[in-house]
Amino acid sequence: MSKYPLLLDTKPVSYMIGDGALGMSGKSLQKYPRIIMLVDENVEKHCLPVFKEYLPNVEIDHVISIKSGEKSKNLEQSIHIWNELTRLQVDRDALFINLGGGVVTDIGGFAASTYKRGIPFINFPTTLLGMADAAIGGKTGIDYGAYKNQVGLFVDPVSVIIDPIFLNTLNDLQWQSGFAEVMKYGLIMDRDLWSMLIGKDYHHLDDWNKIIAKAARDKIDIVHHDALEKGMRKNLNFGHTIGHAIESYYLMHDMPITHGQAIAAGMICETWISSKKFNIECTQIDEVVDMIDLNFEKFGISEDTIPELLDLMRQDKKVREGQLKFSLIRKIGKATHDIEVEMDMVIDSIKYYINRNAAH
Ligand SMILES: NC(=O)c1ccc[n+]([C@@H]2O[C@H](COP(=O)([O-])OP(=O)(O)OC[C@H]3O[C@@H](n4cnc5c(N)ncnc54)[C@H](O)[C@@H]3O)[C@@H](O)[C@H]2O)c1
Repeated sequence: MSKYPLLLDTKPVSYMIGDGALGMSGKSLQKYPRIIMLVDENVEKHCLPVFKEYLPNVEIDHVISIKSGEKSKNLEQSIHIWNELTRLQVDRDALFINLGGGVVTDIGGFAASTYKRGIPFINFPTTLLGMADAAIGGKTGIDYGAYKNQVGLFVDPVSVIIDPIFLNTLNDLQWQSGFAEVMKYGLIMDRDLWSMLIGKDYHHLDDWNKIIAKAARDKIDIVHHDALEKGMRKNLNFGHTIGHAIESYYLMHDMPITHGQAIAAGMICETWISSKKFNIECTQIDEVVDMIDLNFEKFGISEDTIPELLDLMRQDKKVREGQLKFSLIRKIGKATHDIEVEMDMVIDSIKYYINRNAAH
């Protein structure tokens, strides 16, 4: 008998993870009198037909489609969704399905949980990043002004259905982006997962069912213990303090990069900081850096960019009273959070990233 899909009923959210999850989810959808679905244009083209093929008896009352990409995660698109729900006279007994990557699950979760004080929603992630991260954990929201995820709510979906079948049409860059977050779980909490990945380029990994299930379970475990990010959930920020600054830097200079590319670079810098703070063995540092180099091209940033990166970091939500607090690793598979790091050390970590020779 197949081990998949895994069924996890961690109240208040139930999860179905792995091959076959999509087909098996039909029963739980049948109890809703009406179903409204949110997709983006690519998901509508590639994933909606798969959804319909595997769930021919599930009747979708209406599909709302938004343009793909981060630029759609905004108030204007939220208003569009609320307008559609109002026009369709959707009541609170209806179900809202988010079929898509992190953009769709973030804005869809936000729009559904604010419409009429909240209608139930289910996430069907279709990107690796969504399956391993964004669809899990109840963070919903939109970007506002210049700030990412500035407005939003913590609201749990009724369930999250993770079926790797959707990944068949995902492009290479998006696979790579999600892979950074998968590696992160190995580094912060899951030595076993790290052992499955180590030394391999993501193109040559084949047991994705198991990898996704492990990464998703790691996230579920963390959010189950710390839904509101008061403690251990902060460990998920490993690589993200410097990574977000790099992501914003490239965005501001009209050279957008993926979230994963930025986080991969951030994880190199923050592994270096971890090594200084916690005396990690050199072999472990090399293992992490080599693994990231194997999967991500090094950015050609120069030392002149450092002041701008520092300014961006100071605007980060993780900065409290001007003090940068980092989530770092004590060793591979064990993270810690709220570690104060001096500016000079942050600067040196970026210099380390810039000046080391990446083997490609
Ligand atoms: N809520 C959270 O906890 C959380 C965590 C991490 C990231 N996020 C958010 O997630 C977003 C990024 O998510 P993402 O990387 O999934 O981006 P995304 O939703 O923009 O999807 C990436 C691209 O892939 C396309 N796509 C999606 N599924 C596809 C498929 N199966 N086949 C072909 N194309 C497909 C999309 O149309 C899009 O162009 C960001 O907004 C980020 O802030 C949220």
